[in-house]
Amino acid sequence: MAVTAVVGLQWGDEAKGKIVDILADQHEIVVRYLGGNNAGHTVMFDGQTYKLSLLPSGILRPDATSVIANGVVINPKALLSEIERIKAQGAKLGKLLISDKAHVIFPYHMAEEAILEARRGDKAIGTTMRGIGTCYRDKAGRNHAIRMGDLLRPELFRERLEEIVTDKNIILKAFDPSSQTFSAQEIYDEYMGYVEQLKDSVIDTTSYLHHELKGGSSMLFEGAQGSLLDIDHGTFPYVTSSNSSGCGIQAGSGVPSRKIDRMIGIVKAYTSRVGGGPCPTELEDETGEHIRQEGHEFGTVTGRPRRCGWFDAVATGHGARVSGVDCIAVMLLDVLSKLDELKICEAYEINGERTTDFPSQLDDLALAKPIYRTLPGWKTDITGVRKLEDFPKEAREYIDTVSELLEAEVGFVSIGPDREQTVIL
Ligand code: IMO
Ligand code: MG
Repeated sequence: MAVTAVVGLQWGDEAKGKIVDILADQHEIVVRYLGGNNAGHTVMFDGQTYKLSLLPSGILRPDATSVIANGVVINPKALLSEIERIKAQGAKLGKLLISDKAHVIFPYHMAEEAILEARRGDKAIGTTMRGIGTCYRDKAGRNHAIRMGDLLRPELFRERLEEIVTDKNIILKAFDPSSQTFSAQEIYDEYMGYVEQLKDSVIDTTSYLHHELKGGSSMLFEGAQGSLLDIDHGTFPYVTSSNSSGCGIQAGSGVPSRKIDRMIGIVKAYTSRVGGGPCPTELEDETGEHIRQEGHEFGTVTGRPRRCGWFDAVATGHGARVSGVDCIAVMLLDVLSKLDELKICEAYEINGERTTDFPSQLDDLALAKPIYRTLPGWKTDITGVRKLEDFPKEAREYIDTVSELLEAEVGFVSIGPDREQTVIL
């Protein structure tokens, strides 16, 4: 395998971590290119369960190199505590490289986010409160941005921080007179402590990746979040603040998408979503609750119950087109095993018109009535299946329908959390 990418096609939590883990030992370099510690990836490795957030899943392989590329926003405190936590579980970590162009999350980002979310009231985005959106906003705005490379230049860092913290305190107080304020000196001292521990990992990862590509190294791009949370192509404003579809790879790493040999789109066999925003196939009934319980659909990062519903081929198809997938991995199929009947949304009806285009405006999406295709359930335990031909015919029909509607071949079917519980086609 040369260059592979793994991208979520829904609203995140598609179990990308499992496919990344399966593929990681076939790749020398694993690259995370977007998001931050808003992500939550569960990886089972050597009989242990690891919960990763900011670290690429490749970190659990001592002979692989993990790269946190420029598109990621880094909270150094969270990064160091994640490293400590994984080490304490007994894992041997691989080499970690961090882009000097990655932007840094500071405590005022979390404070600002809390105020902005509270001000939206019942229209809150439902963010993870990790300062992700406010850090990306500062990146785009430029005036208040600090990158990892700046931390290695203490005088410049100190000066920038003075200016920024002065402005941030004004902004925070203006929005909320009772808001806490920050001291540039305290943040400087705290962050210089983190820099001391991370500085040897900070490099120009763009040049590094290009040297490695030239030398023929294999690479795995590990997505976080999902295509429908993409800032440009998702359900704006109920999205995350980066390009979480396949579109983000090029900008977030400096590696052009034409270098990717295989783009794998990850889909859950049903729909889940955390936070606010429309979700046409959401089931607010017993079936939704059944899926939530069977799929353990509670957030890894925030512990929130996830909203669950039927598979939505309109929304997911949009994710697949925007990301440009070569094949899909159908995850958590076993979660549906006890249901008598299954539904897959094949089109929306909006104002009496049938469409398979995913609406770009929230009010249109809110009007979308799912048009379902009903399929029979298989009503049997499939967690032991290892070959496609061993699935009950109803499960085959379900997989084939997902594939047909997404116009993509199936490369993997997952029927349990263990590595072996994967049918590879
Ligand atoms: P993984 O990588 C699911 C959602 C949040 C919220 C919105 C914006 O585990 O699939 P943010 O904190 O990013 O500004 O929140 O995005 N969100 C995710 N939902 N899985 C994730 O990551 C998510 N990361 C962010 O719930 O609705
Ligand atoms: Mg998650």
